[in-house]
Amino acid sequence: MVARPVARLQGRVSAPGDKSVSHRALMFGALALGETVISGLLQGEDILRTAAALTALGADVRREGEVWRVRGFGVGGACEPQDVLDLGNSGTSARLLSGILASHRFTSFMTGDGSLRRRPMQRVIEPLSRMGARFQSREGGRLPLAIVGTDEMVPIEYELPIASAQVKSCILLAGLNAAGETTVIEPAATRDHTERMLRHFGAEIRVAAAEKGGKRITVAGWPELKGRDLVVPGDPSSAAFAVVAACIRPGSDVLVGNVGINPLRAGLYATLKEMGADIAFQNEREVGGEPVADLHVKGGGLKGIDVPAQRAPSMIDEYPILAVAAAFAEGTTHMQGLAELRAKESDRLSSVAAGLAANGVAHEMGADSLTVHGTGAPPPGGGLVKTHLDHRIAMSFLVMGLGTREPVAVDDGSPIDTSFPGFAALMNGLGAGIEAA
Ligand code: S3P
Repeated sequence: MVARPVARLQGRVSAPGDKSVSHRALMFGALALGETVISGLLQGEDILRTAAALTALGADVRREGEVWRVRGFGVGGACEPQDVLDLGNSGTSARLLSGILASHRFTSFMTGDGSLRRRPMQRVIEPLSRMGARFQSREGGRLPLAIVGTDEMVPIEYELPIASAQVKSCILLAGLNAAGETTVIEPAATRDHTERMLRHFGAEIRVAAAEKGGKRITVAGWPELKGRDLVVPGDPSSAAFAVVAACIRPGSDVLVGNVGINPLRAGLYATLKEMGADIAFQNEREVGGEPVADLHVKGGGLKGIDVPAQRAPSMIDEYPILAVAAAFAEGTTHMQGLAELRAKESDRLSSVAAGLAANGVAHEMGADSLTVHGTGAPPPGGGLVKTHLDHRIAMSFLVMGLGTREPVAVDDGSPIDTSFPGFAALMNGLGAGIEAA
């Protein structure tokens, strides 16, 4: 795909459903008894993988027009899947479902695409093994993975070695089918959609502050989860592409409606404001137990800043698009605490650095840091960026091409559908020129 430079962006769009919340809505619906009715669910491929896996476990998951209906199997009530669960590109499906699979007395098998098969699973194998499940994986804890589950899970207290909402959620999901209380201690607070939704479905959950700014989360086993109605808010990680596109084109005036602004997800917006972006949060409200706002963005005026490492968990998926914003800012932007970016859909630190290099943007990459030197003038562009099956790399560099001197191309736009089907059409509705090359 290729993105051509445009003068400015204008108009109003709505963010697609939140990917993290959508996965959880389907999974908790499957773990509940009775019917869960979900509106606003993301129709991305990652979510369809979760839906298919839950169907294979015995849930009745169906789409009816704009809503999805789930009839669950209840906690501990999944049946043995008849075939390998193929989770495509979706790390969230793999990590969270492993908590459900490990807490049932059957053996299941999991695989994924070339990206997912490279990603570390040891981070969930370790705590789930302590709870009593057994695993066979490829070298280094990579998929394909065989999970020998147990219905006699031992509740544990587990201190996460890394700040990961996926690992936290995996353990809490396993803890639902354990006799007693399971506790996860985070080194730093990560997105809390699982905790919010557990409460919504009727689980007993306690959250207390832990040392160093993280939290201590305890869930009681064998709750009676009941089917609920749910509304999925718009995804701040997807909205980020339209917001940054407006920021980098002076004269732009864009309203992105229905953006989730959960403080544990909104780090990019705080950062852009510190860089001098003109972003107003309008009509703040609650949607499905999550804070939401409409974002009114006017283009221009970005300055380089230091982004503190402590902010990383609240914007972990947004560094590729922040690096693009930084390339258009005047001055140097220094980002730290980025080690986890190497374990995403691609090694995102290297993918971003290579994309910046291909488009003539001065930068330095460290082991867990990235420094981008902007001049305040549009970067040259003209590069072909390798996306490595990573949707956020594809979308970030297509946004870059809206403001560079020459067009920017990406080698493979197909991964965009994992999280943001309709991305090009939505952006082009604002005046962008993104098309198949
Ligand atoms: C997610 C958590 C994050 C994020 C991913 C979605 C989630 O991963 O990168 O896109 O839904 O819990 P980690 O928790 O592993 O950092």
